[in-house]
Amino acid sequence: MHLAQAESLRPRYEAPLHLRKKELNAMPKETLSLVDNRTQTCYELPFFKDTLRAMDLRQIKTDPQDFGLMTYDPAFMNTASCQSAITFIDGDQGILRYRGYPIEQLAEKCTFLEVAYLILFGELPTAAQLAGWKNEITLHTMLHETTKKFLEGFLYGAHPMGMFISTVAALSTVYPEARKVNDAELRALQIRRLIGKVPTISAYTYRHSLGYPYVYPDNDLSYTENFMNMLWKMAEPKYRPNPVLARALDILFILHADHEQNCSTNVMRAVGSSLADPFVCVAAAAAALSGPLHGGANEEVLKMLDEIGSKDKVPAYVERVKAGQVRLMGFGHRVYKNYDPRAKIIKWAADQVFEVTGRNPKLEIALELERIALQDDYFIKRKLYPNVDFYSGIIYQALGFKPEMFTVLFAIPRTVGWLAQWEEMLLDPEQKIARPRQIYTGYELRDWLPIEKRAAPAA
Ligand code: CMC
Repeated sequence: MHLAQAESLRPRYEAPLHLRKKELNAMPKETLSLVDNRTQTCYELPFFKDTLRAMDLRQIKTDPQDFGLMTYDPAFMNTASCQSAITFIDGDQGILRYRGYPIEQLAEKCTFLEVAYLILFGELPTAAQLAGWKNEITLHTMLHETTKKFLEGFLYGAHPMGMFISTVAALSTVYPEARKVNDAELRALQIRRLIGKVPTISAYTYRHSLGYPYVYPDNDLSYTENFMNMLWKMAEPKYRPNPVLARALDILFILHADHEQNCSTNVMRAVGSSLADPFVCVAAAAAALSGPLHGGANEEVLKMLDEIGSKDKVPAYVERVKAGQVRLMGFGHRVYKNYDPRAKIIKWAADQVFEVTGRNPKLEIALELERIALQDDYFIKRKLYPNVDFYSGIIYQALGFKPEMFTVLFAIPRTVGWLAQWEEMLLDPEQKIARPRQIYTGYELRDWLPIEKRAAPAA
């Protein structure tokens, strides 16, 4: 069954319409009154930063033995799982800020490592801090030789994201002290190791898939330039990256560095909450990122554009989307109900790249898809706009990446966000092991039956 068909079979929850606004002649108070009609009891619950604390609902019981009220929120549609000071998104306005700074300013004025510093430590670095930070990351770009051999065990056709996830997890065996997650100094070391090594691992997955020898890091180059060096250096003594392309990649990395509580960050925090080491946590987060509804969407967009083939076929494809046969990949977002600000910046960066590489013909198809979708009622009603993945693949392809690499290119910068969120989670006194509740829908108690008495379930 196609993904979009499976999605459309899921029952959708509609909020009850009987919640009516009623005028009360009382003084405004920072509380919420709830009446439990089962017991005719009124409860007054305090607001916490414009939310309710779910644990406050536990006092709502039908009798003292009752467990108390829980909330039911599949897919966390309306649940804040943490407090965070890292990234702010206003999905209705299309606003994204890291540590208070607008993404547009950071993309225009900063380098990726500068933004990484900001995300991790809360402030933009001074010149001396930035030089020190670059040096620290550069010290950690090499992989242990056994990790190189580990990579060699993969099939040449292995998906780079599978190689990335497994190799990051394997680093946990190289740095066993990383398990001491309560040691701040050791945490700081693993953060630097991970940020330093993810481009190397990524480049090696690419070189491995082509059967090319691995290229060692070049510490004279910037973070992104060195990544390009490890990807594309051949026999020349020194790799000289095109500065326009290196800057475009740096901007793409800035745009992908963090995005508050998305699927993979939620996994990072959940796995980290069991005090697992950061290498396996990042591997788990990257696994979540690899899915087609999350970071894997950029690869899917390219496949979709290939499938459409030409601009004149766009209207027919949009009809298939509206009929629920396929999803328009790179469109829609849980939080953005407006144009994703990152997609706007990517469109701008694409023009710079195309001046060097020539225009990617897929851009015509993408622009036509966007034009038609944005004036169609189906997309307008559901507030579906292009997201970060819609245009990123087109640039990545123009830069010379094959589609299988696209999600790896997302994972490199997002490692910074995952690690900042992991550190914040570990230092948050309110956080504990992540452990949601459930509503049990299975059998009541029943007795075990010997095998000869069991009936085969109806097919
Ligand atoms: N194409 C067609 N219809 C869509 C799409 C789409 N891309 N996205 C949402 N819808 C429809 C969906 O069918 C539903 O319609 P209805 O109310 O009639 O059933 C409505 O819009 C709401 O969708 P939803 O699936 O309930 O929304 P969600 O918040 O659970 O999903 C999403 C968000 C990003 C998973 C979804 O929009 C999607 O699948 N987009 C395509 C994949 C994609 O581009 N993912 C990248 C997301 S941004 C970067 C990242 O996170 O990595």
